[in-house]
Amino acid sequence: MTEEKGKRIPEAAGEETHDASAYLKEEALRNEDNSLIAISRVSAALSGLGNLDAVLNIGLDTTLEFMEGKAGGIMLLDEESRFLSYRVTRGLSDRYSKEMHMKLGEGVAGRVAQSGKPILIDDISSEPGVARPDLISLEGLKTFACVPLKAKEKVLGVMTITSQKPGHFTRKNIYLLQSIGDQLGTAVEQAKLYERLRRSRERYRQLARRIIVAQEEERKKIARDLHDETSQILAGLALNLQALIEMAGARGIDDQQFLEILKRSHNSTVQIHTEVSRIIADLRPTQLDTLGLVSAIRQYAHSIVASRGIEVEFDMDAIEKYLLPEEELSLFRLVQGAMGNVIQHSNAKNVDISFKQKDDNLVLAISDDGKGFELEKLAEMRERGRGYGLLNMKERMVLIGATCSVQSSPGKGTTVRAVLPLSGKTKIN
Ligand SMILES: Nc1ncnc2c1ncn2[C@@H]1O[C@H](COP(=O)(O)OP(=O)(O)OP(=O)(O)O)[C@@H](O)[C@H]1O
Ligand SMILES: [Mg+2]
Repeated sequence: MTEEKGKRIPEAAGEETHDASAYLKEEALRNEDNSLIAISRVSAALSGLGNLDAVLNIGLDTTLEFMEGKAGGIMLLDEESRFLSYRVTRGLSDRYSKEMHMKLGEGVAGRVAQSGKPILIDDISSEPGVARPDLISLEGLKTFACVPLKAKEKVLGVMTITSQKPGHFTRKNIYLLQSIGDQLGTAVEQAKLYERLRRSRERYRQLARRIIVAQEEERKKIARDLHDETSQILAGLALNLQALIEMAGARGIDDQQFLEILKRSHNSTVQIHTEVSRIIADLRPTQLDTLGLVSAIRQYAHSIVASRGIEVEFDMDAIEKYLLPEEELSLFRLVQGAMGNVIQHSNAKNVDISFKQKDDNLVLAISDDGKGFELEKLAEMRERGRGYGLLNMKERMVLIGATCSVQSSPGKGTTVRAVLPLSGKTKIN
């Protein structure tokens, strides 16, 4: 506490020395109690607040209450411009709150922010070097108690409590104010970190959304090109090869080597055509429109496990139609991702797919009895550029208001579960 002037400590005038010292002791104890109560109230009010505005508003209100002040505000220091401006005020005009801003080192608040030390001014009208004395005199302000908001010695802003009465605040007040300022500083820093985290999470979500939308667009385009060009050409080629085989028979060509190559070419073309059709269906699952989600899942799962020696069991209700096309597509993509993992990684013999309405939720679960994996290793895998399938599924679920969880442990199989709340949804005819 250094920059402080003309402070008075109230004395019990006219009493015996003995009584006066007893009075002062009592008074000191009372003040100490009050200060502790004030500090612990501020700390309780601020604890767990992650929102900067809430921290500042509650911090200022609690402080004013304890200081019996009517007006004041909190200014934050912009890290780049090094300007201080009000973020919250009480009992000050809009004009004052908007126009009162200053550089670091300027005016009372600027000096407090620069030095990191509090200032108490009994009557600001006789104070030199004040920023905007016109605004101060318009508000009729006299006493100023201004303390820095510090976190780990770094000044983040200042809190000012003012009064129209000269000499309204005492030296004890400013000690208390400084303790509150220290707590507020830490809470402000925490809230700023939370805000930064929230903003980066939000940016990440937007990016994930864009990637998913772009991915769907791209898939549609590739499916269209494959369907309109590659698939048509292959169908034509297969027909031509078939025609050549028939012509060779009709013209009595019995060059076995020639006929063999022709037949193999025909077979390969038919095979490639089937494969391209499967890729198209994967990219743009039109069976969703034609069959609906439940049958599309059934058909897809059968097609993917066929010839791989995996048994698939279904426990799916004929769920009433609540879902929008993009929601159906997202759930279908989840099945594709999870089934892809089953055949790529699990060595499972059995897969259960269930899709049921449970209370107010739709629950889709894909469980296998394969080798499972350690969930803790996922972060590590992502650092190596793998493991984005599950992340993608989770993001897709978030986008449709669902949650996605993965359960797995080595030797115990894997379950991917999506839960979509039905609240707010109406049946679609
Ligand atoms: N059903 C499963 N059985 C065993 N291991 C699994 C299963 N599902 C996922 N895993 C493990 O989790 C990892 C991450 O899966 P994820 O789908 O996120 O990525 P990926 O399959 O490796 O790559 P991508 O899906 O992008 O092609 C897999 O590499 C695998 O080790
Ligand atoms: Mg995968």
